[in-house]
Amino acid sequence: MIKPHGAEQLMPLYVADQQQREALQAQAESMPSKIVSSATATNAVMLAGGYFTPLTGYMNVADAMSVADTLHTADGVFWPVPVMNLLSDASGVVVGEQLALRDPNVSGNPVLAVMTVNAIETLSDDQINHIAEQVFGTLDGQHPGVAAFTGQGNIAVSGPIQVLNFSYFATDFPDTFRTAVQIRDEMATLGWEKVVAFQTRNPMHRAHEELCRMAMQDLQADGCLVHMLLGKLKAGDIPADVRDNAIRTMVDVYFEPNTVLVTGYGFDMLYAGPREAVLHAVFRQNCGCTHLIVGRDHAGVGDYYGAFDAQTIFDEKVPADALLIDIYRADHTAYSKKLDKVVMMKDAPDHSKDDFVLLSGTAVREMLGNGIAPPPEFSRPEVAKILMDYYRSL
Ligand code: ADX
Repeated sequence: MIKPHGAEQLMPLYVADQQQREALQAQAESMPSKIVSSATATNAVMLAGGYFTPLTGYMNVADAMSVADTLHTADGVFWPVPVMNLLSDASGVVVGEQLALRDPNVSGNPVLAVMTVNAIETLSDDQINHIAEQVFGTLDGQHPGVAAFTGQGNIAVSGPIQVLNFSYFATDFPDTFRTAVQIRDEMATLGWEKVVAFQTRNPMHRAHEELCRMAMQDLQADGCLVHMLLGKLKAGDIPADVRDNAIRTMVDVYFEPNTVLVTGYGFDMLYAGPREAVLHAVFRQNCGCTHLIVGRDHAGVGDYYGAFDAQTIFDEKVPADALLIDIYRADHTAYSKKLDKVVMMKDAPDHSKDDFVLLSGTAVREMLGNGIAPPPEFSRPEVAKILMDYYRSL
């Protein structure tokens, strides 16, 4: 199986040994503690599951700046997005001592992780803005990722962590949430070597479904890892449980058994477009995937990124030897009325826009909200029904 990023073995930071975990949990109750941001908490969940191998914790300012500017840590590890613990108040936090990180997303704020504090550094507004601009390509406060990043505080508390649980992801999504360790194990059991990952934060419509099928066929892959984001989204995106149900139903009905694994990871959506696409590639390599589908407006929001910027970043900013995983580039994909199937537009050069079934996200939401199923060329009826039921329940 493909090696993890920057290491021979995955480095999950979850304390797997029950006795050690319970001992650390007990110690944590008497340590200084802070309720962290949701971004920090979900970074811990990713670190816990081995997704962020070879990182060992939260970056200091030098690493975060270096990652923002060069996509490498100060020590030269390829990494596309700063992984930080930003607080607005670091009173009681002591360098060299342990700090319990409390989960903002679980009632009662239980301890999620214990960190050894290596540094406490205050960033200037200029530094925060610089990181945001490099990562998100904008400083617009309307951008949901910029708003989340800049709203955390400006004190970076950095150091290695040990993680005690998987936040609400393991409990709320027991059938879908998986660690990178579990995904590797599952793929090894299935005997999969060449695996294409499909990142999604949306229910899968026909274009998504066919992209998975096309990639599997073109690459002669053993299987497809449908890997959905289970964390926080911007208002208006479909919640993870509804999406999970829609995706599972579609996969059950329309894919051959044992060709697709439906799984999810516990992370908040950054909406960082190209940078997030590179992060997606890194952690799919850690899951054991050899390819990641990157299509149109991958991890995008609004008009902040060009439709294929998330592909070109791999040519412009990712050194050839930085990753072992490859990307599978998808052109804008839609149902062709002429050919009676879903195709990539580049493969139908004689078509005009009218030859495709094209619906905007807004149009689809409006239809579903009014109890109207989008045409079967756009959405499988089983998927449309689940989404219409969801919109009716609002
Ligand atoms: S994302 O934020 O997780 O990227 P989404 O779930 O909509 O959003 O997309 C999942 C993947 O499918 C991304 O790689 C995206 O580029 C791709 N994709 C979605 N719709 C299309 C389409 N019509 N044509 C080509 N690629 C698409």
